[in-house]
Amino acid sequence: MADPVLLERPAEGVWLVRINRPEARNALNLEVRKLLARHLGDLGEDTTTRAIVLTGNDKSFAAGADIKEMAEAGTIEMLQRGIHRLWRAIAACPKPVIAAVNGYALGGGCELAMTCDIIIAGESAMFGQPEVKIGIIPGGGGTQRLTRVAGKFKAMKYVLTGELFGAREAFEMGLVSEVVPDAGVEKRAVELALLIAALPPLAVQLAKEAVLAGMDAPLTSALALEAKSLQILFSSQDQKEGMRAFIEKRKPKFSGR
Ligand code: CAA
Repeated sequence: MADPVLLERPAEGVWLVRINRPEARNALNLEVRKLLARHLGDLGEDTTTRAIVLTGNDKSFAAGADIKEMAEAGTIEMLQRGIHRLWRAIAACPKPVIAAVNGYALGGGCELAMTCDIIIAGESAMFGQPEVKIGIIPGGGGTQRLTRVAGKFKAMKYVLTGELFGAREAFEMGLVSEVVPDAGVEKRAVELALLIAALPPLAVQLAKEAVLAGMDAPLTSALALEAKSLQILFSSQDQKEGMRAFIEKRKPKFSGR
């Protein structure tokens, strides 16, 4: 049987992680979740990896948690599966992660896209948190991340009804970074990953950290963190190189140090 998560290397410094369970619309079973956590963990530590694209196939990014795998589970079994720890591992990846979404991003699939840093969606992609329709609620951040992105009233509408929404609406509510033709989703995501891969990695990493940590903190603490992160970068060779190259009107050569 094919590997349920594939690793591809579309360009130098860029890895593409592909969920590969087309027979189940890329539903996130435990094996897929563990592989995602492991790959994002490994790529997060690999100094040659500068940006990651996370994707599925043309029909589905991911149709949510694997319903068949959890339908008969009890509370203790759900606890022991440790899915919350796997979510944390996925969200903890220090490298920029770009979700390339075609087809369905539902339930855990929508939540997975929301743990990414940039979301590129095909124009016919469909998003949603339909958990309520099967007697549960989102468990991977759907009630929280969607609310932070879209505000209480949009989030409530979708979490309480389970209705799906399209890529345009997702873009308008701030859930999606760009909407592109379906056939161009992966290409655009890799293009953005390459843009990021060419930039000084320490600055990229601290920028990601500052945005994410700041979202959780009061403004004064978040601004202090941003200021400290900026100051730290003045110890990096890439800051010197970037600024000198600008002044000398040449292309910078970043070393990652
Ligand atoms: N879990 C398990 N299997 C799934 C699945 C899922 N989430 N989504 C789709 N599949 C399976 C179907 O059972 C079907 O399998 P069989 O061929 O063996 O019958 C196969 O994938 C194809 O699915 P459909 O025939 O339904 O395909 P479709 O194109 O007509 O519809 C869909 C696609 C709209 C995504 C529909 O499959 C669907 O609604 N899926 C469920 C979506 C959902 O409720 N997600 C939330 C899950 S709960 C969650 O995510 C919360 C959490 O983390 C705790």
